[in-house]
Amino acid sequence: MQRAYYVTTPIYYISGNPHIGHVYTTVVADVLARTARTVGPAFFLTGTDEHGQKVANAAAAAGMSPQEWCDALVPRWKLLFDAYHVTYDDFIRTTQPRHEHVVQRVFERLRERGDVYLGKYQGWYCVYDETFWLESKLVEGRCPTCGRDVQWLSEDDWFFRLSMYAPRLLEHFRAHPDWVRPKSVYNEMVALLEEGLEDFSISRTNFDWGVPLPGGGGVVYVWFDALLNYISAIGWSVDDERFHRYWPASVQLVGKEIARFHTIIWPAVLWALGEAAPELVFAHGWITVEGQKIGKSLGNAVDPFALAHQFGADSLRYFLLREAPLGSDFSYSEEKIAQRHNSDLGNDLGNLVHRTLSMLQRYRDGIVPPACATPLLDRFSDVPARVRSALLDLLFRDALEATWELVTALNRAIEEHKPWALYKEGRASELDALLYELCEGLRRLAMLLHPVMPERMAQLWRRLGLEERHLGGDWDVLVDERIAAGTRTTLGEPLFPRIELEPT
Ligand code: MSP
Repeated sequence: MQRAYYVTTPIYYISGNPHIGHVYTTVVADVLARTARTVGPAFFLTGTDEHGQKVANAAAAAGMSPQEWCDALVPRWKLLFDAYHVTYDDFIRTTQPRHEHVVQRVFERLRERGDVYLGKYQGWYCVYDETFWLESKLVEGRCPTCGRDVQWLSEDDWFFRLSMYAPRLLEHFRAHPDWVRPKSVYNEMVALLEEGLEDFSISRTNFDWGVPLPGGGGVVYVWFDALLNYISAIGWSVDDERFHRYWPASVQLVGKEIARFHTIIWPAVLWALGEAAPELVFAHGWITVEGQKIGKSLGNAVDPFALAHQFGADSLRYFLLREAPLGSDFSYSEEKIAQRHNSDLGNDLGNLVHRTLSMLQRYRDGIVPPACATPLLDRFSDVPARVRSALLDLLFRDALEATWELVTALNRAIEEHKPWALYKEGRASELDALLYELCEGLRRLAMLLHPVMPERMAQLWRRLGLEERHLGGDWDVLVDERIAAGTRTTLGEPLFPRIELEPT
């Protein structure tokens, strides 16, 4: 059985409209999935986290039942992901029976094994983050993550024996120093483990919007419910063969604020079930505005539909991946997006495409000249392998910089060899050779940039007269191919038209 590449995003709280932060993680996962598909089978899961007090409160404020509220909002998330060309293979909702069934099975399994027990929960709770906090972790009596008020809870809950797993977790962290990235988050998690762990409450009795505990007595705590999406979607306890084709996940992407749930609680739960920890959890940084994490409730959310409309979804995808290494925070502004769009995409790449295709029209009626040696491209023959390994290693900026080496070299070749002069001087074979190399260069760029800018690169591929079904195919095959002489190209409008922002 061939193991597939399995990539996940967090499932998003459906308490409001999606914002650009949600697009960020999902686009990163999409780039990974698209790249992995050029190597072999891949599965990309995203979805929505629909239970819990936060969602119940949002529904109540809108005068709807929680289920009606979730049903009304899910299409907006799907539309948004479509607008950003996201190719998820499955979209899980925690209110789906396929998921609820697994949550109940897990609870029963843990109860049978004695991994859970009934105890008294007393402590502080942040509804916004759906998180319990020790008194000692509060900052001036407020939630240490979001700064909001916390409420005192006292109830009889089921607890998962997390504390028991602390030594095994520490051992796992030490034996797999790269399983949590970036290093800063890894170190933070090790420090938490060294402090020791408390058992983890996994049920709630003070409200009922959640998966009912088998046998009654409340609902499953939303975080415990939510984490299980990663295995319910691939058939845990229902279809073993399918489950083992995907599990353990290759990459689980999360924002750094939820690293603790994914790198401490999650592996312990998996071990309790007899399953392996994920291969990699990558906790990425935040998109900020004026130093604050973008988030609906902070009032600085940016409408991602409007952004896609204004800049083009592919331009936004490029910006999100190019602007900062994945683990770092970065601030967001329309000026920055416009700047990247105009310089990297408009000037460097867009001009290369436009100049090449228009010279081909002018000098060769749009027809690709006879195939010939490609010495310049040969000098960059390692670029596809470098780009692919950087992408799969989540080093997106490095991958794009490596791609731009090729963009720059091809632009430079035009400046140096001056095709317009070759044409005037009747040096036909030199002109043919240059145009051929430029066309072949564009074909490779379309292939390399397709995971990041799928729509624009499909457009370029078509203009090069290539068959669309080949784009996104096996890179090893595509790298060995060459654009065929006699292929008819079309010029078309600029791929990345310049964007002028309205003065504010
Ligand atoms: N529902 C939980 C996750 C459960 S996973 C088992 C949750 N949801 S959330 O809607 O708050 O979204 C979480 C994720 O959205 C973050 O972890 C991150 O991946 C992404 N982002 C939300 N805001 C973001 C930024 N401002 N910047 C970058 N990513 C952001 O937590």
